[in-house]
Amino acid sequence: MTRYQAAIAAATVLFGLPAIAFPSPSFWTSYSHRRAAQLECNQASFASVLPPEATIETVAAVPEGGSYGGGADDVAYPINPTRLPALCAVTVKVQSSASSSYRFGLFLPTAWNGKFLTIGNGGFAGGINWLDMGPGPHYGMATVSTDMGHNSTMEMTAWALNNSEARTDWGWRATHGSVVLGKQLTEAYYGGTNISYSFYNGCSTGGRQGLRELQQFPDSFDGALIGAPAWWTTHLNNYLTQVGLYNLPETDPKHISTALMAVLADEVVRQCDGADGVIDGIVSSPELCTFSFTPLFCNDTNTNPDSCLNPAQVQTAQNVYRDVYSPNGTFLYSGLTLSSEDQWFILLGGAEPSPFGLGYDRDFLCNDPSWNWTDFNLSRTIALAEKLHPGDATAAQFDLSAFKQRGAKLMLYHGLADGLVPTRGSEYYYNETIAAFNGSRAAVDDFFRLFLVPGMQHCWSTPVGAPWSIGGSFQAGVMGPEYWSVPGFEGSKRHDALLALADWVERGEAVESVVATAWRSPMNASSGVLRQRPLCAWPAKAVWDGVGDQDQADSWRCAG
Ligand SMILES: *[C@@H]1O[C@H](CO)[C@@H](O)[C@H](O)[C@H]1NC(C)=O
Ligand SMILES: *[C@@H]1O[C@H](CO)[C@@H](O)[C@H](O)[C@H]1NC(C)=O
Ligand SMILES: *[C@@H]1O[C@H](CO)[C@@H](O)[C@H](O)[C@H]1NC(C)=O
Ligand SMILES: *[C@@H]1O[C@H](CO)[C@@H](O)[C@H](O)[C@H]1NC(C)=O
Ligand SMILES: *[C@@H]1O[C@H](CO)[C@@H](O)[C@H](O)[C@H]1NC(C)=O
Ligand SMILES: *[C@@H]1O[C@H](CO)[C@@H](O)[C@H](O)[C@H]1NC(C)=O
Ligand SMILES: *[C@@H]1O[C@H](CO)[C@@H](O)[C@H](O)[C@H]1NC(C)=O
Ligand SMILES: *[C@@H]1O[C@H](CO)[C@@H](O)[C@H](O)[C@H]1NC(C)=O
Ligand SMILES: *[C@@H]1O[C@H](CO)[C@@H](O)[C@H](O)[C@H]1NC(C)=O
Ligand SMILES: *[C@@H]1O[C@H](CO)[C@@H](O)[C@H](O)[C@H]1NC(C)=O
Repeated sequence: MTRYQAAIAAATVLFGLPAIAFPSPSFWTSYSHRRAAQLECNQASFASVLPPEATIETVAAVPEGGSYGGGADDVAYPINPTRLPALCAVTVKVQSSASSSYRFGLFLPTAWNGKFLTIGNGGFAGGINWLDMGPGPHYGMATVSTDMGHNSTMEMTAWALNNSEARTDWGWRATHGSVVLGKQLTEAYYGGTNISYSFYNGCSTGGRQGLRELQQFPDSFDGALIGAPAWWTTHLNNYLTQVGLYNLPETDPKHISTALMAVLADEVVRQCDGADGVIDGIVSSPELCTFSFTPLFCNDTNTNPDSCLNPAQVQTAQNVYRDVYSPNGTFLYSGLTLSSEDQWFILLGGAEPSPFGLGYDRDFLCNDPSWNWTDFNLSRTIALAEKLHPGDATAAQFDLSAFKQRGAKLMLYHGLADGLVPTRGSEYYYNETIAAFNGSRAAVDDFFRLFLVPGMQHCWSTPVGAPWSIGGSFQAGVMGPEYWSVPGFEGSKRHDALLALADWVERGEAVESVVATAWRSPMNASSGVLRQRPLCAWPAKAVWDGVGDQDQADSWRCAG
């Protein structure tokens, strides 16, 4: 087992936390408007409304309190959501080309509120994300997710080798087809009633998926909640290879061990915590910190390579933080942010670059199972990726005027301690969108807002007790299959970003802030609330009032 696989295994243990008892609220029932001529929850009903390329695999009625999903057969998402509201679960297979197909799952709640929700995937996962569909019916929404056209865990890419159709399904086609057909089935099931609003919730690859869909098909969503998007595939995935190479080979004096990453993380908190004006162990303004490596230098009394840095290791760390440019000065990608060190093990902890970079280069781009990363050249490989554009996956369109003109809204959030997808890449996307709107921040602010999450790692969790739970994709599921929204604050638009977004879309109440929640034990919602704090629409930040309890959201306001 490589160190990388060990890290993934450890993360799987985290995902698989034992179920924790929690009451399933039923207040959404009051929002339900049942239809007269509903389809029956059976195979024949659904088959009658599908186009010829689509076939029904299964239809099942799930009772109130029940559980549904693919189980162990769904290697990407083997955990089924539990304590579901009563619903009809449908699985559809769609032939997407002569040699490819994708599948999607659909939850149709008995107590439907007229809305439709699409859920994203993560990494290279090939599986219907039933676990993260679980929250959808609790909100009252019909909910769809696709397997993206292949069957694999999130770090596997062998399916993409020499397979441009499968890459295209992953890139955009399975997502788009699932949205279109999912909406058709939903409207038919509820007696020909039109969907009132369509939403999206996805993080990481899910963030890319959502952006990709709304850029090319602005009619798909009225509101999109996009987390830590891996949006610029041609650049980002190559950058991920590059970051791994900064720390390789493992035998080089420049190599930073995972133990040393933890030492660096502590020193970053020590030096940078106060830059935001509040000493709380959370680095909220990494961009204001001028970090000095000097206190970590190896010397006569400290020569341990796991607890001090030699000059070559300092250079490695500086490489990881810096933005990268091609030899002609063109911006290629943003570096990782100060405070992300606790998660560097994913990209920098292995004997080879992480599969998120290596697998992309080998199986999507070079199409060569024996491709060797030792002579990797970032700018050259990015140029190749831009030329071949495998799967047409990149979501790098910045002019979102068609989406805006429909009245649709976009909320993008990104953890400032993300060690997998660089946080500043989201800032860059936001800045480029402003540029596409002729430099008018106001024109963008009307429909698109960015929320940075101090101390949050990739999509969820925190090593420093920072509030992170806002109802984003994956966030309920990683705590247990029975959860939805923000546990204990279900249905609150002040705490749940998806509901805040819905309010913006449906009632025009623009979202200035969302209150994020941290648990005493970071991934255990029944350990109790540790603290809550608002996340503010960038570039505003949460500012403490100087007197109130710092752990209470009311002691903070958005400013700047
Ligand atoms: C995915 O592949 C695994 C074998 O790697 C198999 O056990 C599983 O049944 C497959 N799942 C689906 C949904 O085809
Ligand atoms: C790639 O696929 C094509 C057609 O499916 C096949 O003819 C060719 O041998 C494959 N190449 C490799 C390297 O697998
Ligand atoms: C549903 O939407 C279609 C297309 O937008 C429209 O023509 C139709 O009148 C709508 N039906 C209802 C019942 O609102
Ligand atoms: C030696 O380095 C350690 C940290 O690596 C530091 O704490 C210590 O103060 C340094 N000692 C001297 C004498 O500079
Ligand atoms: C990659 O290239 C290096 C240097 O040429 C060589 O030592 C190594 O064995 C190669 N790895 C593979 C998997 O071919
Ligand atoms: C600079 O490099 C980038 C990326 O390598 C390339 O796309 C671009 O065309 C180059 N620009 C010029 C002016 O050579
Ligand atoms: C990478 O390739 C580019 C263009 O092909 C070249 O200018 C540059 O020097 C190379 N970089 C390294 C580190 O070899
Ligand atoms: C985005 O723009 C702001 C304001 O001009 C600037 O401070 C920030 O550095 C930019 N960020 C990135 C990643 O380009
Ligand atoms: C930017 O300005 C140009 C020229 O006035 C205009 O055609 C274009 O629509 C504007 N773009 C946006 C997104 O407002
Ligand atoms: C979560 O916290 C509760 C309350 O402290 C505790 O009883 C439970 O064992 C914890 N669960 C896990 C998986 O640690």
